[in-house]
Amino acid sequence: MSEKEKIIEFIKRSPKAELHLHIEGTLEPSHLFKLAKKNNIKIPFSNISEIKSAYNFSNLESFLKIFYQGSRVLIKEQDFFDLTWAYVLKCKENNVVHAEIFFDPQTHVNRGINFDIVINGIYKALQKANKEFGLTSKIIMCFLRHLDEVSGFKILDQALLHKDKIVGVGMDSSEIGNPPRKFEKLFKKAIGEGFLTVAHAGEEGPPEYIWEALNLLKVKRIDHGVQCLQNEKLVQQLKDSQIPLTVCPLSNIKLRVFNKLKEHNLKKMLNKGLMVMVNSDDPAYFGGYINKNLIECQAALNLSMKEVKVLIINSFKSSFLKEEKKNEWISKFSS
Ligand code: ADE
Ligand code: ZN
Repeated sequence: MSEKEKIIEFIKRSPKAELHLHIEGTLEPSHLFKLAKKNNIKIPFSNISEIKSAYNFSNLESFLKIFYQGSRVLIKEQDFFDLTWAYVLKCKENNVVHAEIFFDPQTHVNRGINFDIVINGIYKALQKANKEFGLTSKIIMCFLRHLDEVSGFKILDQALLHKDKIVGVGMDSSEIGNPPRKFEKLFKKAIGEGFLTVAHAGEEGPPEYIWEALNLLKVKRIDHGVQCLQNEKLVQQLKDSQIPLTVCPLSNIKLRVFNKLKEHNLKKMLNKGLMVMVNSDDPAYFGGYINKNLIECQAALNLSMKEVKVLIINSFKSSFLKEEKKNEWISKFSS
């Protein structure tokens, strides 16, 4: 077996944690089409291949328009259950043993879907996956940053009724023009209520947004963060604090943050000692789950076995698992 084949085998068979995954972004075109029919929701596509050909994005904004449109087919608790169940089967296939999952309740509540329907469907599927094949998971609720803080406070109130199911809050959607400082009070309240905090920052937006997420929102992780290399002081701070950056390489190519995977800065970030790992973001839209992300990065960036191992170990280190459980998974890589 060549060294490259060995690394690919290692990627496939290693247990992994996924820390940046939008559950609505796992809605595969065939499933979207089926749900639109079942729920009688009009979509501007007459077949699955038309859906697939619409997945050609020029930036984050152009993706979000299609992404929110796709989410409209999710109506019943069973739909959220089935969506999540399809994802947990992908976890099994990819050897993802722990998943920390985002959901966007405002996308659903603002079109008349009850919060309980959304969270219960997701939660029940995750519980079943835990029982049937041991997948562990956490749920993180994201605020839509293109909406105002008042809307965020309203959804946080609803989340308080489901504190047993939601471990943290995050922030996603249109980054540029919606800096983290817009939600300083909201995040303060969420922290006071016992939620962990994370935020998308430095996906397309400037290093300043990463500083704000760290200093004002007190986040435990930065989602994406790839723009951090523009600012040396920030890199030093991220290195010293070992704040994780949940990098999503195939997403960054599809949304044209980088032109080609060969130009992605993942390896540079890793070699600077930053706490990075690989995630899939919205795999149904960006063309690959976690193994495909890792395998394509390995080929494009010529990642060594050692580098791949560090990325996978970092996925556990950066998770919200208890220290003992983290160490249990990490110890499997010690030989
Ligand atoms: N919502 C779903 N995917 C996202 C991404 N990559 N960035 C911001 N918001 C998102
Ligand atoms: Zn994301």
